[in-house]
Amino acid sequence: MLHRPVVTAAAVLAASFAANGALAQDTIKIGIIQSLTGQLTAVGKQVMGGVNLYVQQKGGTVAGKKIELIVKDDTTVPDVAKRLAQELIVNDKVNILATGITPASFAIAPLATQGKVPSVIMVSGTSSATERSPYMVRTSFTLGQQSGIIGEWAAKNGAKKVVIVQSDWAPGAEATQVFTESFTKAGGQILETLKVPLANPDFSPFLQRARDANPDTLFVFVPAGQAGLFAKQFVERGLDKAGIKLIGPGDITDDDDLPRMNESILGTVTAGNYSAYHDTPTNKAYVAEFKKLNGMRPNFISLGGYDGMHVIYEALKKTNGNTDGDALISAMKGLQWESPRGPISIDPETRDIVQNIYIRKVEKRDGELYNVEFATFDAVKDPIKAAKKTN
Ligand code: PHB
Repeated sequence: MLHRPVVTAAAVLAASFAANGALAQDTIKIGIIQSLTGQLTAVGKQVMGGVNLYVQQKGGTVAGKKIELIVKDDTTVPDVAKRLAQELIVNDKVNILATGITPASFAIAPLATQGKVPSVIMVSGTSSATERSPYMVRTSFTLGQQSGIIGEWAAKNGAKKVVIVQSDWAPGAEATQVFTESFTKAGGQILETLKVPLANPDFSPFLQRARDANPDTLFVFVPAGQAGLFAKQFVERGLDKAGIKLIGPGDITDDDDLPRMNESILGTVTAGNYSAYHDTPTNKAYVAEFKKLNGMRPNFISLGGYDGMHVIYEALKKTNGNTDGDALISAMKGLQWESPRGPISIDPETRDIVQNIYIRKVEKRDGELYNVEFATFDAVKDPIKAAKKTN
């Protein structure tokens, strides 16, 4: 008769516990939820381009732990983003989350709070996103950071009557709010604010209405991926020929779409947080390596992914691989470093990004259209949060 060792249920349980424990300790799981299909696919492609480049450059191990990325597609639908976050937290037991566009980040925020899961907002440009959960940190930008600066610049440079064309969702509303305040305070007048649906936009009828109002300048916010169509319809409706100037946050001359735009976009002035033409060795290397890996020019969205991974890696180094939510968030607060976009930091008070905003003009360089920077505003904070603080 064969002698069989007696294995008790308790022993099996203890053994599997140890195996799981070891696994949990050796691997850090990062759940990344981005819009890889649907309305804002162009955004998802850029942010993942940045994430993948960072991991390729720095490797898949931090503080002696293996990094496992679990990438999910929210299909540009906030309810899907929420369900995916729930599954990632409950089933996959991710240690960290990375979120994308505003509606998705809003939908995920309560789950981040409940699960105490540190979450890096890689795309959303809406001020309140970081206020929705104490476990959220932003590496992207806010529309307010850019819109106030271009408002003042426009007023100082001859703009008097402006029509606003904004994509009709939260970041668009904030672009309009902050621009209107700074432009009117500097003596300018807003003739009209036109709101264009986010999904499948047709700008033509709005551009016709804008033209009829007879402004000297159009202030425009459309999300990354829609600027190409906007620029095409701007020319088709003859606004360039009518001598109407175009200004806005950086999204309207997005580096992803810019190379394929008509040359009538030349001379357009925007305030943005990143230009692929930013003249530093760090950025030149970033652009070259991003193009090699992803086959496209990086735009401002890509930096939210690239720098978002940097925040995660650096925080893990500081905690020596401890993934406790409070420990990681506190390690993320106050981080500062040189990004391809310039010097940036995470405001320890608000968990929001502080970064330079550059005024740029579209020019042709080396045979291609670029945003060429000509003025810098250092270490700009989100103005909507700053205003709340002083009120
Ligand atoms: C956002 O999700 O808030 C967002 C996305 C794309 C943009 C700007 C803002 O270009």
